[in-house]
Amino acid sequence: MELTVRPRRLRGSEALRKIVRETRMDKSALIYPLFVMDGTNQVEEIPSMPGQYRYTVDRVDEELDRLTEAGVGSVLLFGIPEVKDEIGSSAWAEDGAVQRTLRKAKAKYPGLFLITDVCMCEYTSHGHCGVLCGQEVDNDATLELLAREALSHVRAGADMVAPSDMMDGRVRAIRETLDAAGFTGTPIMSYAVKYASAFYGPFREAADSAPSFGDRKSYQMDFHNRREGVKEALLDAEEGADILMVKPAMSYLDIVREVKDATNLPLATYSVSGEYAMVKAAASRGWIDEDRIVCEMAVSAFRAGADLYITYFAKELAKFMQEGRIG
Ligand code: PBG
Repeated sequence: MELTVRPRRLRGSEALRKIVRETRMDKSALIYPLFVMDGTNQVEEIPSMPGQYRYTVDRVDEELDRLTEAGVGSVLLFGIPEVKDEIGSSAWAEDGAVQRTLRKAKAKYPGLFLITDVCMCEYTSHGHCGVLCGQEVDNDATLELLAREALSHVRAGADMVAPSDMMDGRVRAIRETLDAAGFTGTPIMSYAVKYASAFYGPFREAADSAPSFGDRKSYQMDFHNRREGVKEALLDAEEGADILMVKPAMSYLDIVREVKDATNLPLATYSVSGEYAMVKAAASRGWIDEDRIVCEMAVSAFRAGADLYITYFAKELAKFMQEGRIG
């Protein structure tokens, strides 16, 4: 056989395969989503997300300890309030679960990077991501509320805010509000390319945030669209976003690559609740090898171009990286 090029030559041993790896990762790229709620002394497992919990603020340390130990350095906080109303006013409550967690974590875990999800859907009685005008979500009226929520997070100690509502112009509105209050150095990670996705199903149970009527298709994106993803990404970059995000991750890696090539900002992708639930469900039946699937999903996100990976499997991935199973 006169073969000069033999790709298999580079696959001959584990050591060699590691040397020629094209995708290298680091624990610092992992972000863990964490649900905090009002009340005391409760840790509730989320039924559709086995292994994931909602914590009252007095017990959130249990998870923060585990994350710190695992070497996961960033969390993305979601708040679940006791009281919801039409405009979601608990979102900027000084004693809200997110605000209290921020103050506590800032003092007790100074090395942890604290990101907050900025959206109205967890706080509104109707579950939509903004304020309503009839049956419609009023874009411009919502901007003011989002900016207020973001400012309240930053005042309580957030290192970065992450708007996930998909209103037009919200990055600019939040940037202006933060700047006016003197927080010119606080970055914004924008959920820039967020699709209207069935993959968020389990999250809505976790955050008790399913819309009470209709759906989110008038603000989240149609999943048939690719160029529109680039448009949203470029727009948010122009409005002052510091980091962009594509969400969900697994079914949207083409978009991750597209946005990566179109912009020069760090790029995050969010492996959402439905991705987690599918893996857990299949693994619990012995149909897939959970650890290997989790590794493969993570590597594919980085390979597609993600710099940051938001995942409920952050602790497990940190361990796999430590052990050299991936990296
Ligand atoms: C809030 C928000 C959602 C998610 C993150 N921020 C839900 C939604 O848009 O309905 C989804 C996260 C997940 O599914 O893990 N708007």
